[in-house]
Amino acid sequence: MKVGIEAISIYSPRYYLDLKSLAAVRGIDAEKYYKGLGQERMAVVPPDEDIVTMAANAVESALEGIDFRSVDTLMLATESGIDQSKAAAIYVHRLVGLPSTCKAYELKQACCAGTAGVLAALALVQQHPQKKVVVVASDIARYGLGTPGEPTTGAGAVALVISADPKLVELSPDVGAYTADVMDFWRPNYMDEALVDGKYSIRVYLKALAESWNAYVKETGLDFTDHYRFCYHLPFTRMAEKGHLHLAKYSAPEGMGREALLEQIYSAQRYNRLTGNLYAGSVYVALTSLLESQEKLENKRVGLFSYGSGCMGIFYGGVVQPGYKKHLKEEKHRQMLGNRTEMPYGDYEVMYKNSLPKDGSEYMNNHYHVGNYRLAGVKDHKRIYEAVEREEQAPRSAPAVNSRSAPSKRSVSYP
Ligand code: HMG
Repeated sequence: MKVGIEAISIYSPRYYLDLKSLAAVRGIDAEKYYKGLGQERMAVVPPDEDIVTMAANAVESALEGIDFRSVDTLMLATESGIDQSKAAAIYVHRLVGLPSTCKAYELKQACCAGTAGVLAALALVQQHPQKKVVVVASDIARYGLGTPGEPTTGAGAVALVISADPKLVELSPDVGAYTADVMDFWRPNYMDEALVDGKYSIRVYLKALAESWNAYVKETGLDFTDHYRFCYHLPFTRMAEKGHLHLAKYSAPEGMGREALLEQIYSAQRYNRLTGNLYAGSVYVALTSLLESQEKLENKRVGLFSYGSGCMGIFYGGVVQPGYKKHLKEEKHRQMLGNRTEMPYGDYEVMYKNSLPKDGSEYMNNHYHVGNYRLAGVKDHKRIYEAVEREEQAPRSAPAVNSRSAPSKRSVSYP
């Protein structure tokens, strides 16, 4: 029986900072960001969006045309959790209107959590082929202002419908994994920004890649030449180049030159260059970017490497299905990434410094340019979410943050 990805949809916040603007303010040559890191833009999350609203947008879009009654489980992978107890998946479940028989919970292992969810989903669908599982990865990558990590900031969500009708990619449950207790990147509960030992994190990533690959080859009997394209976890897109050349050193056939190797990863980087790091969803944005490129991928095997700091690496793969192009949301993604509003550096810094009250006091957000859901505010320590009517969409330019206004009449209320 085939199992794998039936549908995939990404969501990116509607504002971005061009890394040229960041470079100008930080007094850094923009080429360091554009070429050295391979990043052009980073998504900026307005105050009325968070991992719940981004995930709800991605899930709603991924489930278009799918009978909600077939959805058995919603798993939300994140390392930007909003609550220590309640799963962000529960809010998403309600916002998109999934049935009460559908389970909903949250998963964590840094940027590897999305893949952990996909593997659990594959096993569930193998056992119950009539059921579908939605795995959504939603994150806000956040580093300190002026730190080396800052240009690798990003945000967004990606939702995958895993089922026994894999219209896009048949996934293999045979994986190679590597786990080790290291401190390359982490975020203590009392901090809003990640802490990272940047150069060390790159070395650990490469080690996890090599070890996962070796385990994968042993498990599957496949080798480098069985794979047509490779998608990597992309904290910044140059990481794919570092990873792929590293892997190729001891596994690619002799005579395969640099250009041919870079060709194997090129199409899977386009979207990530524009969104920045999505943490748990990053490798699936890379996969979406590849599937929605000009490449002809039918019946071709794609290798997928997921890396989560701390750390765990997983290498696995799948075969792109005949007719997959018909089932992509290419136009929607192209428009979403193309129609975002550029933010001047000053507004980015104001948004960065804006934070929700931590003492339970009431706070209502202005309307920004968002997708179909927004975080209206916070009251009594509870986040208030609401659906957005199209005609109520805010103007593209960003209003000032932190204003107080009356709660919206259309807030989705609790029973
Ligand atoms: P840095 O020290 O600012 O950068 O930090 P650099 O000096 O190493 O420069 C970067 C590259 O730009 C270098 O190229 C320079 O030569 C080049 P390389 O040596 O790598 O080939 N460069 C230029 N190129 C063109 N024109 C110029 C120019 N100047 C310099 N004028 C670092 C870079 C990535 C360390 C930093 O941004 C950082 O700490 N980022 C966050 C951590 C990270 O992304 N780590 C990646 C692996 S860990 C991971 O992926 C997990 C993660 O997603 C989290 C999770 O799992 O939850 C992060």
